[in-house]
Amino acid sequence: MVVAIDGPAASGKSSTAQWVAEKLGFRHVDSGSLYRGVTAARLRAGGSPDEWSEPSVLAVARQVSLRPTERGFIPLIHGEPADGEIRGGEVTREVSRVARMPGVREWVNSEVRRAAAGSDVVVDGRDIGTAVFPDAQLKIFLVADPWERAKRRLVQRLARRPTDAEVAEETERLVQRDARDSMQTVQARDAILIDTTYLTQADQVERIVALARGVGKRDR
Ligand code: DC
Repeated sequence: MVVAIDGPAASGKSSTAQWVAEKLGFRHVDSGSLYRGVTAARLRAGGSPDEWSEPSVLAVARQVSLRPTERGFIPLIHGEPADGEIRGGEVTREVSRVARMPGVREWVNSEVRRAAAGSDVVVDGRDIGTAVFPDAQLKIFLVADPWERAKRRLVQRLARRPTDAEVAEETERLVQRDARDSMQTVQARDAILIDTTYLTQADQVERIVALARGVGKRDR
């Protein structure tokens, strides 16, 4: 079974997907970690990001892989865990340009399908329910108000309550990122839309888990 969770940046996709996978006993595949991994590998190779060509990005993609763990995958560069590096500010700034390259999207999609093969999975990203697994048994599209998304992100990063000025600044950054990723972020026609603005993460997880169990019963 494939549960596809798509949505914009900081909509809580990855943490929700991870938690849903844990509850269902499924594996979690974070497709964004591959786009980030390729971007980090390309940054290591040097040069100005404005001048990165698609072939030069594809050339480093083979350095990136996923190591299976009990419930998910760790992104590796040259066989070494790169989880910290791929979440850094520089990667976050440059990843959208890499994610717009058609060859990179093809490469990521085939890696995601390979990682997912043979197990029940929860896969999160932007186009999982449309391009990667159009036949997924359950498709969720998570949205939340940008101000709320910015606040959640800052609470996680700063481990304290952010000021309104900080939230405003982060909201601006998020809205810009949404615009850069908008072409890639697609809601499948048969996706269930969940607005998490007024939901706790535990509530979102419960809803998705209940929907997945319903699908499991229906298909049995
Ligand atoms: O979800 P994230 O912030 O880790 O995603 C990183 C980047 O990868 C972001 O620019 C969107 C892009 N992405 C994508 O285009 N398609 C996906 N399935 C997953 C991520």
